[in-house]
Amino acid sequence: MVTVGTRKVIIFDTTLRDGEQSPGASMTLDEKVAVARQLCRLGVDVIEAGFPVASQDDFAAVRTIAGEARGPIIAALCRADRNDITCAWEAVRGAQRPRIHTFIATSDVHLEHKLRMTRPEVLGRITDSVSFARSLCQDVEFSAEDASRSDESFLKAAIRAAVAAGATTINIPDTVGYSQPQEFGELVSEIVSMPEITAGGVTVSVHCHDDLGLAVANSLEAIRRGAGQVECTVNGIGERAGNAALEEVVMNLRTRGESFGVQTGIKANELYQSSRLVSRVTGIAVQRNKAVVGANAFSHEAGIHQHGMLANRATYEIMLPAEVGWIGEGMVIGKHSGRHAIGSCIKEAGITFTDEQLAQVVSKVKSLADRQKSVSAEEVVAIAEGMLHEGVEPALRVVEYAAFTGNGAPATASLAVVVDGRTVKASNHGIGIVDASFSALKAATGIDARLAEYSLKAVAGGSNALAEVTVAVESGGRIARSRGVHEDVAVASLNAFVAAFNRLLALRGIT
Ligand code: KIV
Ligand code: ZN
Repeated sequence: MVTVGTRKVIIFDTTLRDGEQSPGASMTLDEKVAVARQLCRLGVDVIEAGFPVASQDDFAAVRTIAGEARGPIIAALCRADRNDITCAWEAVRGAQRPRIHTFIATSDVHLEHKLRMTRPEVLGRITDSVSFARSLCQDVEFSAEDASRSDESFLKAAIRAAVAAGATTINIPDTVGYSQPQEFGELVSEIVSMPEITAGGVTVSVHCHDDLGLAVANSLEAIRRGAGQVECTVNGIGERAGNAALEEVVMNLRTRGESFGVQTGIKANELYQSSRLVSRVTGIAVQRNKAVVGANAFSHEAGIHQHGMLANRATYEIMLPAEVGWIGEGMVIGKHSGRHAIGSCIKEAGITFTDEQLAQVVSKVKSLADRQKSVSAEEVVAIAEGMLHEGVEPALRVVEYAAFTGNGAPATASLAVVVDGRTVKASNHGIGIVDASFSALKAATGIDARLAEYSLKAVAGGSNALAEVTVAVESGGRIARSRGVHEDVAVASLNAFVAAFNRLLALRGIT
């Protein structure tokens, strides 16, 4: 049963900023814009679009999203420094509803070892930076980085300084995911009841990391204690172990409404699509048993559970799959299924295709259905996702490929690639054809890269199922994650490598 209260909690999404800081999660400009559009459909209240001073790419992404996104507030992150703030403002000022989000650490360990500043100096910096930000923008958020490990009286002094200088939102980050729900809740209660907060109508926000697996629990406890804004990311991606997962926070608030008495503006049936999109563009897979959006989240395997489900779904299901837009793996497409059924699988996965692209998917699905008895919805989505990467005009393309192994001969791969308009051929040996293909690709492109992670799964069952390969490729200190899908494991692997190399090239990590 869904119960909702009246207090509105602001959902602040930082997938494009803190989420993008996950190792290897970098997104291209087009990918960030696609995620921002989906976040608008999802109904988040604030999109933190990036950290503009970090790079020209970040600046461009924030500026583009600020100019395009309609509905949510668009926030830009900056350190408590006038140059950073000016840069953030230049990036975000075109938004319908811009926000400057400035931060400085308040814990002694950060003051001593990172900032090398005294407490009075930090207070002075807060006053200067927040008032400068307010002179540019009406909506200013101040974050006390590492708040949960800060001396409480100094944290409160920092908050007073920020509010006096004009901050409209005060964010309390558990930056290193150290807090326990009860102590974090008590800290939030203290801050929510500060006279400066209540008198000034200031919103108290929380931002929890998952180092001890408590990001969602801490965020929920903070909401129960009066926090008015929660910062989170789709699939919980973010620095180290990640941030509070948006879909988990939201579905707790919905499913256990009676415990919280709050509501959000989230359209829950967009959660699954948002999850799939973020996973696709970052290359970070969603674990099968992930709450709310994992492939197994609504699957029932044990006979006793299936029996209960057939009698009454309420026996084992506390949320309906449709409530979160979950399509799961159950739907089967046969070779007689029409364009409509295939089109709706793709649409439900958050992919927008032209009629021409859809026709190509239909023909690929039908040829797969000719070889297998049926094709799962997951396979249809995998085919469409593979085509998304084919569709973009990449810097690097493979035009010929052959790989051999067996009979004691070393595995060999030969390929021809077109890179920046030039065709180059190369062959190489390896431990197996995957290794040989990776080495041949490096030789053909001249890119010095290392395969940091490789995983292979059959999209559905059977030895003739589609192979989905997920890789992380490291080059020059950057990691690019990507996926490749094909009936043949070697080709799926090569597709994943090529997509990762293209991602590195697009991020200008190795040119
Ligand atoms: O984790 C953190 O403290 C942050 C702040 C910049 C809000 O991401
Ligand atoms: Zn963070």
